[in-house]
Amino acid sequence: MSIVLSGIRPTGNLHLGNYFGALLNFVKLQERDSCFFFIADYHSLTTHTTPENLTNNVRRIMALYLAAGIHPEKSTLYIQSDVPEICELYLLFNMLAYVGELERTTTFKDKIRLQPGNINAGLLTYPVLMASDILIHRSHYVPVGKDQEQHLELARVYARRFNNTYRCEIFPEPEAFNFGANLVKVPGLDGTGKMGKSEGNGIYLTDTPDEIRKKVMKAVTDAGPTAPDQPPAEPIRNLFAIMELVSPPETLACFKEQYAQCTIRYGDLKKQLAEDINACVAPVRERFNDIIRNEALLKKTAATGREKARASASATLKEVRKAVGISEK
Ligand code: ADP
Ligand code: TRP
Repeated sequence: MSIVLSGIRPTGNLHLGNYFGALLNFVKLQERDSCFFFIADYHSLTTHTTPENLTNNVRRIMALYLAAGIHPEKSTLYIQSDVPEICELYLLFNMLAYVGELERTTTFKDKIRLQPGNINAGLLTYPVLMASDILIHRSHYVPVGKDQEQHLELARVYARRFNNTYRCEIFPEPEAFNFGANLVKVPGLDGTGKMGKSEGNGIYLTDTPDEIRKKVMKAVTDAGPTAPDQPPAEPIRNLFAIMELVSPPETLACFKEQYAQCTIRYGDLKKQLAEDINACVAPVRERFNDIIRNEALLKKTAATGREKARASASATLKEVRKAVGISEK
């Protein structure tokens, strides 16, 4: 059976892009593979947060994982900082990671631009920590978006370099995973580009029906088609793209037909889209609202995950220490 792993940084909320691009795939994968899903709380410290925010955001992401359908018995669901073995592997990989190759990663270059006043060493070695997350369970597949491909490449480099340096075959070379050609990119409703936290255009899984309606009604459109069978411009294509994810196929077909016939009324389209987004997120939101108040469940989930994750991690670390020559005490 393949080992699958992925992580999400605790930023407090998840939007439709995170849901269709990541979470729903995780839920499907857990039926098939041996899955590890975690909350990357150490990673979020590279951009300095307050202790209150960190604690609260970790709880919320844990609740969202559960609300979206991650099953803590089927998958191993845990918090990164609960597994100290990851830190030891991180330290050992740091000895094999070259500063030059880390400085060349685009995510690091982006961060230098975004936070020039806080270019900490943790930002530079972010990919080393991520490789440790992945390789501590000797994972084969990592379901992540395209933006993480360079990090995956480095995880492969460190796996290979470790195996070569210490003449062993402890680590597989992990690959980014997606479901065939159907890699979804959820667009934003502001006309161009993707839905994203930093883009500030997210429709969140915990948004109320009212909030969803307001956001959808504000979506950018155009003056409407002026001749039959015109190809829609990007803002309209984006509305259709979200509709394709959340609405029944007949609904989408009906609005596309109206567009082709120049009879479409964007107000009606938006109203329907808001309804359908709400129908899609409502069960998640309701489960989330229950789970977030259930301290016992959250604690128990984290404790179960921690135990399972540490069992797997310490088995890897035992072999790693032996390969490096750290004697058994
Ligand atoms: P954000 O871009 O909002 O900061 P993250 O970078 O934390 O989100 O992404 C968490 C996961 O969600 C990643 O696996 C990423 O590929 C996926 N994801 C984020 N935005 C989208 C989107 N608009 N469409 C599809 N997947 C997305
Ligand atoms: N870097 C990932 C992101 O920003 C989060 C992450 C940290 C991760 N460690 C990971 C994802 C290990 C997959 C595997 O989205």
